[in-house]
Amino acid sequence: MTAQRILKMGNPVLRQVASDFKREEILSDDTKVLLGNMWDTLELAGGIGLAAPQIGVSKQLAIIELSSESERYPEAEASEPFIIFNPKISIIDNDLQGFWEGCLSVPGLRGYVERPRKIKIDYLDEFAEQQSIVLEEFLATVFQHELDHLIGMLYVDRMEDAGTLMFEDEMDLLDEVGEDEILD
Ligand code: NI
Repeated sequence: MTAQRILKMGNPVLRQVASDFKREEILSDDTKVLLGNMWDTLELAGGIGLAAPQIGVSKQLAIIELSSESERYPEAEASEPFIIFNPKISIIDNDLQGFWEGCLSVPGLRGYVERPRKIKIDYLDEFAEQQSIVLEEFLATVFQHELDHLIGMLYVDRMEDAGTLMFEDEMDLLDEVGEDEILD
């Protein structure tokens, strides 16, 4: 498998609503190659999540894995790897939680984003089986961020205050932003 170029904000593919997979398509060899390329791309970039549109494939697929070795999110607890096809999000608790989000398609920047703190996601796994998962805290934000990529949205669209957008290297110099609030 081969790591792919990650599209950056401004590329129109990142603004498209991605199309659904058919069940048989999920099981195809093409999709296995796509998934392998996505995991390689994510690992090389040192990120914790990647959506297919970020490598130019406008389809409803995202992968997420919190690694304890992530350079971008050193405080994150490790998670299992998630492969999410055709997700549908329901909000369980609309109380908001905020994190400093970053995005591999918006390199070098972070912005403060508040999102619902507890959600449910119905989706198909890599075996085209229906799954449902309830998420809260950091993972709830990570999933909402990644799944936004499937509807043409970026975290900058979710920022309440554009004034919180900042460069990572400036952020590193500041004390008032705690590392535990930083999400990649
Ligand atoms: Ni992103």
